[in-house]
Amino acid sequence: MKIIIAENYDQMSKKAADIFANQLKEKEDSTLGLATGSTPTGMYKHLIEMYKNGEISFKSAKTFNLDEYMGLPENHEQSYSFFMNENLFDHVDINKENINIPKSNVSETEINTEVERYNHLLDNSEIDIQVLGIGRNGHIGFNEPGDAFTKNATVAELTEDTIKANSRFFDNIEDVPQKAITMGIKQIMMAKKIILLANGKSKSEIIKATITGKITPFVPASVLQLHKDVTIILDKEAAELL
Ligand code: PGA
Repeated sequence: MKIIIAENYDQMSKKAADIFANQLKEKEDSTLGLATGSTPTGMYKHLIEMYKNGEISFKSAKTFNLDEYMGLPENHEQSYSFFMNENLFDHVDINKENINIPKSNVSETEINTEVERYNHLLDNSEIDIQVLGIGRNGHIGFNEPGDAFTKNATVAELTEDTIKANSRFFDNIEDVPQKAITMGIKQIMMAKKIILLANGKSKSEIIKATITGKITPFVPASVLQLHKDVTIILDKEAAELL
């Protein structure tokens, strides 16, 4: 694992954007694994800037998002598809046909078909670079702590801690979806390169457990210790217990 400790959130975001930009410069038709949440928004801002300056293009890139809530209309402002349009896709030259995100507006009866559809797409692709945030409980994507590492895309029941953490984006905690579709841990581990970003004091304990703790499905991100090309980029606060 390579660990980079940046001065602050903006520096962290810039370093991450530089790694993504280099990937796109080296291979225009890269497959990018993308994440939502507050952590990567700064990285996306820098990437948009680089695109506007003519440094990079997304024209030939293909993307896969890590996860999506279940049971929200696609244009709901908390759906991850909405988030990605707002924070990246609407501002760059990506071909919308090359964007892959699980559908959020599926019913209980349709969800397994949607999971299979996403698995099929992932099975036929190879992610060149995957960006990850991390939950305070160590989740990556919506792979919550549990008895075993997940393999392929699956339906995740969100834990109370995750629902509480994500309720800041909703009017009421009751409005936070309780289920999501998430890429599995095995699929994340198959990405050729991974960067994990974390900022702020609230992530310091889980960052310590992820990097220096035992590899266990109770800290899903700890599995990254086994990946051969992971860069963890932190601000000073998230790194304070290392
Ligand atoms: P955050 O979420 O970036 O909003 O902190 C990260 C996550 O839960 O994976």
